[in-house]
Amino acid sequence: MAQKKTVKTAFFVLLTACLTTIALALSGAEPTVSAAPRPTTLDQVARGKYLVTIAACHDCHSPKLDDRMTIDNTRLLSGRPVTTFPPMQGAGEIRASLDLTAWAGPWGNSYAANLTPDRETGLGGRYTEASFIRTMRTGIKPEGETLAPPMPWTVYRNMTDEDLKAVYAYLSSLTPVHNVVRAAPRIEVARR
Ligand code: HEC
Repeated sequence: MAQKKTVKTAFFVLLTACLTTIALALSGAEPTVSAAPRPTTLDQVARGKYLVTIAACHDCHSPKLDDRMTIDNTRLLSGRPVTTFPPMQGAGEIRASLDLTAWAGPWGNSYAANLTPDRETGLGGRYTEASFIRTMRTGIKPEGETLAPPMPWTVYRNMTDEDLKAVYAYLSSLTPVHNVVRAAPRIEVARR
């Protein structure tokens, strides 16, 4: 008896599936199964990692182990370390620290930000996926400040939404590193 009921149920499920497929085919609607699969979060994170690697984010945002730009994998993308001293201002020049995390130019000093999800010192407490995309497209931080050079947002604004979402997914998956960068003092340009 129970077996008969199961067979009957299976038959109805199959029939409903067939009828739905026929109805969709007749109506010309795309059956959902043939739609392009949405990338899973894991795919997105892997894609984001790849993009971050080739788009030079580490050059400026990751602390280095030596003066040959060897990236410190224990604190990836955590921004300018406190031990990196800001370069001196030079009239008509842009100067960088050896690890490329601290800069000086006509705009003053700028320090590569902590991009890890740390809520106090990283992107965690300040950014959402939407505001991250907005900042990378407009050069304006969530608080309304302009992104200082040399952050090359005019290059990255050409990334697709999907790619920027992938970059954000990867950054959000990083180990949070507590490293205060924003609180560092800004020195105004010495005018001559
Ligand atoms: C040439 C150096 C350089 C490169 C390459 C670079 N950045 Fe930056 N980035 C900076 C600097 C310097 C700042 C700080 C700017 C400021 O203080 O206004 C910054 C700031 C940011 C901010 C704003 C953080 C905040 O606190 O609001 C984000 C987000 C960001 N970068 C993401 C990226 C990503 C993602 C990449 C790679 C796709 C990247 N950056 C590549 C130098 C760089």
